[in-house]
Amino acid sequence: GALMKGVRHLSDSGITRLPDRYVLPVSDRPGVGLIAASSTAAAAGGVGRVKLPVVDLAGLRDPSQRAAVLATLDDACREYGFFQVVNHGVGSDVSGGMLDVARRFFELPLAERARHMSADVRAPVRYGTSFNQAKDAVLCWRDFLKLVCQPLREVVPRWPQQPADLRDVATGYAAASHALFMEVMEAALEALGIPAPAAGGGVLGELAALASHMMTVNCYPACPQPELTLGMPPHSDYGLLTFVLQDHVEGLQVLHAGRWLTVDPVPGSFVVNVGDHLEIYSNGRYKSVLHRVRVNSTRPRISVASFHSLPAERAIGPAPELVDDEAGNPRRYMDTDFATFLAYLASADGKNKTFLQSRKLP
Ligand code: SIN
Ligand code: FE2
Repeated sequence: GALMKGVRHLSDSGITRLPDRYVLPVSDRPGVGLIAASSTAAAAGGVGRVKLPVVDLAGLRDPSQRAAVLATLDDACREYGFFQVVNHGVGSDVSGGMLDVARRFFELPLAERARHMSADVRAPVRYGTSFNQAKDAVLCWRDFLKLVCQPLREVVPRWPQQPADLRDVATGYAAASHALFMEVMEAALEALGIPAPAAGGGVLGELAALASHMMTVNCYPACPQPELTLGMPPHSDYGLLTFVLQDHVEGLQVLHAGRWLTVDPVPGSFVVNVGDHLEIYSNGRYKSVLHRVRVNSTRPRISVASFHSLPAERAIGPAPELVDDEAGNPRRYMDTDFATFLAYLASADGKNKTFLQSRKLP
C-alpha cells in the first residue's frame, strides 16, 4: 500500500507538507527538550553540539601510546557511550565507495528497491521504511536496506544485484567493518581489565569463530517539515558495538546529561557506540546510550550502521571478572539472548521500558 512506498518516494513526489502519519506528538518532537519514552534523563536540557572523544587507532597500534588510547576509550564508553575512530586504515575507497553505492541504491526505481521488501526480521536482505513499521504509531522519515553480513560467503548471493557493484562494494566494506570491530573490541576488553586468554579463547575467540554482523543502510531524504518528525526515534542498539559511517550531513544526536547533542560529522571517521550487550557484559561500566536521528529540509543524508555482537543464540551476562559482591559490585543484569529480545518486543514491557531496563536486576 501507500505506506510501504516509503519516504524517498514521498520526497521525490515533491510534497510540501508532512503527511499526518509522520507527525509526532508535540512532546516527542525534536525541538522539544523533554525526553519522551525515557526515564534515564530527569532534567530536560534542550539540544547542543558535541565533538565526540577521539580514539586514534594508530595510537592503539603503537605500544608506547596504547595505554593512553585505552584510557580515552574507557572514559568515552563510561561517559558518552559513543566515540569516533580515526586513523583506522579503512581506505576512503572502501568507505566512500560504500556511501556512494548506498546513495545509488536509493536512486533505483521504487519497483527495483521494493523487490527486497520483507516482513521477516531474519531475512538476509530487507528493504523497508520507518523504524519498526509493524509497530510505529507514528512513522519515521527513513528508508533502509538491511543486509545480514554473516556468514558473508553464504549471504552475499542473496543481496541485491542492483546497482551492479553493490555486492562487491558491500562485501569489502563488511570485511573492513568486521576487522575494525575485532580490533576495537579487543581494546575494550583490555580497557575493562578482562585478560585475553592464551590460544584465542574467551569472548574474543568466540567472536573470531562466529560473530553476528548486520548492516543497515539508511536514507533520510529532505523532509518538508523536519521539526515535526524524526529520521529515527530515541533508541539504544542491541549488540556489543555499532560502527556508523555517515556522509557530510549531520543528523545523529546522542543523549548526554539530559541533552540531545548533535554529532559533528568528521569525514573519514567512524562513529562507534556501545550497545546493550556491552553494557550488560561490562556489568554497567560502559553505557548503551539513547540516540536518535534528525532530518532537515534541504539535504538528504545517507548513513551505514554495522551491528556487531555474539551469535543470536548465545546468552550474554556480566563478565565474571567484573562481578564482585564483596567489593560492592554485584551482578546488575540478567542474561539475555535474541529470543529474550523478541519476547520483550512482543510483551507489554516493550511500551514503557527499554530492553536494557527490562534486563536490569532490582
Ligand atoms: C543509528 O543507526 O542509530 C543511526 C544511524 C545514523 O546516524 O543515521
Ligand atoms: Fe542506533
